[in-house]
Amino acid sequence: MPRYDPLDNARRIGQNHEKSYLTDVKWRRTVEMSDILLINGPNLNLLGTREPDRYGTESLDEINTRLMAEAERGGVTLCCLQSNAEPTLIDAIHAAPDAGTRFIIINPAAFTHTSIALRDALLAVGIPFIEVHLSNVHAREAFRQHSYFSDIAQGVICGLGSFGYDCALAGALKTLSLQHES
Ligand code: DQA
Repeated sequence: MPRYDPLDNARRIGQNHEKSYLTDVKWRRTVEMSDILLINGPNLNLLGTREPDRYGTESLDEINTRLMAEAERGGVTLCCLQSNAEPTLIDAIHAAPDAGTRFIIINPAAFTHTSIALRDALLAVGIPFIEVHLSNVHAREAFRQHSYFSDIAQGVICGLGSFGYDCALAGALKTLSLQHES
């Protein structure tokens, strides 16, 4: 097994950074017209290289591509947005009603444990949402066990790795189809 080389690791993360810049362009910093909005918070642009034992080896691009295909199969549009900046995420939530968004899937990442402002933004727009975490936050440090979102979420999924996003999308599709029927 090759020895851990911190410089090589930094280089790999650097490459991912470059890619994540492209990711931001490709997966948007602003909200497009869409039925479902997927929001990923800080450091999730590094998925694939960030603590892979904890968060998995799949990149955010790979996850987003899979979910967009699944949404299309379900007959809905999905807009994927990632940002490391709290105001960008708040603005995206504010823009969601005008973009026709009827459901939000959000992994607020570290903002889960700190952001009353993001919580208030979700309450302000009143769009139902599912909170997702790749890791089981309840089995981690005490400060990760409090979420500013869980009590106002339609559902919370954690500990299933990136499959949690697929589960959340299935939940969103079900909710939207029930809305359609009624
Ligand atoms: C996370 C858990 C958070 O505590 C952490 O700050 C993250 C990722 C997860 O997906 O497991 O950045 O939201």
